[in-house]
Amino acid sequence: MALMEWSPAFSVKVKKFDDQHKKLVDLVNQLYDAMKAGEGNTMLGVVLQSLIAYTGSHFADEEKLMQANGYPEYTKHKALHENLVKQVLDLQKKSQAGGGVLTISVMNFLKDWLINHIQGEDKKYGQYFNAKGIS
Ligand code: FEO
Repeated sequence: MALMEWSPAFSVKVKKFDDQHKKLVDLVNQLYDAMKAGEGNTMLGVVLQSLIAYTGSHFADEEKLMQANGYPEYTKHKALHENLVKQVLDLQKKSQAGGGVLTISVMNFLKDWLINHIQGEDKKYGQYFNAKGIS
């Protein structure tokens, strides 16, 4: 069973970002599956790297659109992104150093962060962009 499922309740009403969030959910599930299957460090490292790379490009896309449209909470939102990236890069460093850090509690942290961020901060920009005709 997957760690998390996409739900229409997660929609931020901007299709491009809904699609990117679905992909992030897939990648978190892939990482969870690899962890559960007891995959070796190499495989976990590959999946973790994909998640990090995709997260980085998703955050950059959101930030670019916020900046282009004068989103008032841009700085706060960007700081939240940066904080998560820092934590995940830290995790990657620890994983590369000795492995064994991808536990169920780490997976739950990633899942909860994603759900809370999408449903809280991302939904706020959804309303703002919709009002500017972006959906
Ligand atoms: Fe969809 Fe702000 O991350």
